[in-house]
Amino acid sequence: MKMSVIGCGHLGATHAACMAALGHEVIGVDIDEDKVTLLNSGKGWFHEPDLDPMLADCIERGRLRFTTDFTEAAGFAAVHFLGVATPGYPDGSYDMSQLRAAVSSLVPHLRGDCLIIGKSTVSPGTAAGLQAMIDDMRGPGQGRVEVAWNPEFLREGCAVADTLRPDRIVVGAGSTAAAETIREIYRPQTDTGIPLLLTDLPTSELAKGAANAFLATKISFINAMADICAATGGDVSALALSLGLDPRIGKAFLRAGIGYGGACLPKDVRGLGAFALEIGAQNAAALLGAVDAVNQARIGQTVSLVEASVAEVAGSRVAVWGATFKAGTDDVRDSAGLLIAEQLRTLGAIVTVYDPMGGGNALVACPELAYADSAISAAVAADVLVVTAAWPEFAQADAAEVGRVVGRKAVVDACQGIDGATWREAGWRVSSLTGVPAGEAQSAVQGPGRSWAR
Ligand SMILES: NC(=O)c1ccc[n+]([C@@H]2O[C@H](COP(=O)([O-])OP(=O)(O)OC[C@H]3O[C@@H](n4cnc5c(N)ncnc54)[C@H](O)[C@@H]3O)[C@@H](O)[C@H]2O)c1
Repeated sequence: MKMSVIGCGHLGATHAACMAALGHEVIGVDIDEDKVTLLNSGKGWFHEPDLDPMLADCIERGRLRFTTDFTEAAGFAAVHFLGVATPGYPDGSYDMSQLRAAVSSLVPHLRGDCLIIGKSTVSPGTAAGLQAMIDDMRGPGQGRVEVAWNPEFLREGCAVADTLRPDRIVVGAGSTAAAETIREIYRPQTDTGIPLLLTDLPTSELAKGAANAFLATKISFINAMADICAATGGDVSALALSLGLDPRIGKAFLRAGIGYGGACLPKDVRGLGAFALEIGAQNAAALLGAVDAVNQARIGQTVSLVEASVAEVAGSRVAVWGATFKAGTDDVRDSAGLLIAEQLRTLGAIVTVYDPMGGGNALVACPELAYADSAISAAVAADVLVVTAAWPEFAQADAAEVGRVVGRKAVVDACQGIDGATWREAGWRVSSLTGVPAGEAQSAVQGPGRSWAR
């Protein structure tokens, strides 16, 4: 099938490449010429494992190309995916301007009946709003342009695998024809047993926000439990194992630490919360507000641990290991590490940040911070080291070697990123957000032939 994907970012470029890899003919559209040029050369403008070879291969086979020209896209296909960003306003509500701009650029060029399939994360009612906007733009006899929704569940760091083999495909469509077209697009995947759930439009629009809100709730729940552990001498890692071994709960997203960040969870919790408030769903708004508050508090709690580790923050040298919102990506959007580094800088600390992959993006996002090109050089003369992303490089760092370059051997492990016991043995003062530092708890849960002690 021929299709366009409008907005070629983390979602759109990955979706375009994967649809082409599944056998479709795809044109990607973005307003940013530099991104389009890079993508046409077979390279993503962000780090995502396995994406570049797939882009290059699909371009080479003639199944994929990128353009800034909406006329070209409108002439090429009758099916158009929307993958532009939906960032949050300060009140939490979604900024729909990219979606509206994309629709305004595309629709005047469409001829005959067409289908627009939204993939961006939005509030319920968005498809209906875009449909009304499109209907106003179309004159009589120009054919029907229908809007459907098909939310995206990919995770950065494994976006290609998630797009090719999603847990589920959710489709909200107002007509049988639209539903059948989308079924046809995903036939190569549904034929392998991947479930496709056909829903009404509001449910499909809610599906992604609700999923992210639930995951965020798990993270904030275990972080709230970490506060109780910290006050009582409990070990939140053992508590998380105990909870996670209950199949009704599951062990995913129960890792206590710095909280969630990135381009999705924070804005989607706030987006859904703002929408709940708008429609008078007070309980939903209160629940999501509490999840957000617990998460935001982790920043201040980490800064407090740093303050407790040094005599005076102002003038202290702080090394921050981790600028991305999680390991395995170069995305620094809503990164707790950068927020902590910025807050410490504002308090007068001399902060040096290192990240294995996100240093370039961090420099653009926070140009006032100093950046090092290695973990060890960031740590030179530091009064305190703060670990804010669980990169394997940090877990594998030699505590003795790092200890030789720092000013004082004090480390705040905000994300269970290092083995506290090993670092303490090497003479470090270790503090963490998880009550008992990782690796130092007495508790152990025995599995068959295996110790789960932490
Ligand atoms: N990043 C993720 O992991 C992820 C996962 C699932 C869902 N989502 C959702 O997908 C949507 C996109 O997120 P993203 O992270 O890919 O954003 P992004 O910022 O990486 O990409 C957005 C792209 O749209 C382009 N763009 C902006 N305005 C445009 C316009 N008018 N016409 C054409 N292109 C335009 C930008 O240049 C950019 O390349 C959001 O709603 C997000 O919540 C993201």
